[in-house]
Amino acid sequence: MKINPFLRKKSISDLQHEAFDEGNGEGMKKTLNATNLTMLGIGAVIGAGIFVLTGNAAAQYAGPSIILSFILSGLACAFAGLCYAEFAAMIPIAGSAYTYAYATLGEFIAWIIGWDLILEYLFAASTVSVGWSGYVTNFLKENLHITIPPTITQAPFTHDPILGWQSTGSYFNFPAVFIVVLVTTLLVIGIKESVKFNNIIVIIKVIVILLFIFFGFSYVTEENLTPFIPENTGSFGSFGWSGILRGAGVIFFSYIGFDAVSTAAQETKNPQRDMPIGILASLAVCTVIYILVAFVLTGMIDYTLLNSPNPIAIAIDSVGDNLKWLSPIIKLGAIAGLSSVVLVMLMGQPRIFYSMSKDGLLPPVFSKLHPKFKTPYISSLISGGFAVLLAGFLPISILGELVSIGTLLAFAIVCIGIMVLRVKQPNIKRPFKAPFIWVTGTLGALFSIIQMLGLPLDTWIRLFIWMAIGFVIYFFYGKANSVIGKKIDK
Ligand code: ALA
Repeated sequence: MKINPFLRKKSISDLQHEAFDEGNGEGMKKTLNATNLTMLGIGAVIGAGIFVLTGNAAAQYAGPSIILSFILSGLACAFAGLCYAEFAAMIPIAGSAYTYAYATLGEFIAWIIGWDLILEYLFAASTVSVGWSGYVTNFLKENLHITIPPTITQAPFTHDPILGWQSTGSYFNFPAVFIVVLVTTLLVIGIKESVKFNNIIVIIKVIVILLFIFFGFSYVTEENLTPFIPENTGSFGSFGWSGILRGAGVIFFSYIGFDAVSTAAQETKNPQRDMPIGILASLAVCTVIYILVAFVLTGMIDYTLLNSPNPIAIAIDSVGDNLKWLSPIIKLGAIAGLSSVVLVMLMGQPRIFYSMSKDGLLPPVFSKLHPKFKTPYISSLISGGFAVLLAGFLPISILGELVSIGTLLAFAIVCIGIMVLRVKQPNIKRPFKAPFIWVTGTLGALFSIIQMLGLPLDTWIRLFIWMAIGFVIYFFYGKANSVIGKKIDK
């Protein structure tokens, strides 16, 4: 029987069997529980977004009402998170949104999503490594008086929307490469070791942020928070209500990562129960933390002074010597925080490659497990290798802008996919059901698409180029090698 290759789908029962068979010895080790998953989610979420972007977005777009931007963006993520949770409990397979699309929307859309997720995971890991490099270089210089030569702390070029590409005089970004190599090594050794490392880091970064909220709180003044919504300056996105919207688009980056929990499904002991907990609990914890940080940050200091790479430290320094001790601790917390984002993102990427390779859409080497560690080590090394190149040689602006558009596209497809499945297969076993699915799914997709439309044209062009490369690979490789395609054609 011939089926249009674009539309061929994996059946949910096949997928559920796959997940079950993997549990019987041949697949990855099942070691994770709900707490580990929640920690993984927090590990991936709290990073460059809260430590850097909050200040910038408050200064440029929203002022104290950046708090409302966080609520808005958090709400949009909650809709998508509920849809992810339903899928992750129903199809506990490592491929995340890629697998969900394969079951609902057909092979071609699944390939598009799998290819698109590289923008989320690999590019986010690289973006955050560049941020890590900035914090480490600054900490070593300001606090320990150690200077790393500037020839090895940046990419060789920067990109400015007006001036175009310019040389920086640097060869490559050594600290960014260093953190990627360190994390990749850890990931090859094992998920259990990586998760332990992640747990420690998450505890450190959450404590540091709580210290900031606790000690900063008493310096919050009404004056700094008034007017809460600064008047629009005349152009869209520059303060006022449109500024809150633009602010939400920018700080969306700080929420990215809770969906990474779903890539660890095959290493989870009881995914039906624990996946929804991991995804939703990490999102809830981070949303509350973000709203509190945004409140304390803009309450401590005039928001116009926050446009710096280190806004939290600036806020602390602004209240005089009383909180001086907290400033290096915040920097260390940020360094720890950014490391775990790199870790979880680089953990997710090979697991998506693994699923795509099992399905025949990528070569078999991507699903080769290490004989002893049982990790997808070759795809971890390939992901790490690409991340080294991206982080070492590209500027943060080019990397970061692709991450948001890629993630939003994945969110939109997951929200649509879950509604398609409710209609087409209403009776399938759903261990977790997203409430009010028609409202949740529609709003999740709508919010994601609106945020995508708010991104600059350049980002869209890059997305199309990236997708065009993906199409070529699919037509020359995936279409002919698809496991499900071969089964159907028999
Ligand atoms: N949410 C992650 C961060 O803010 C990607 O660094």
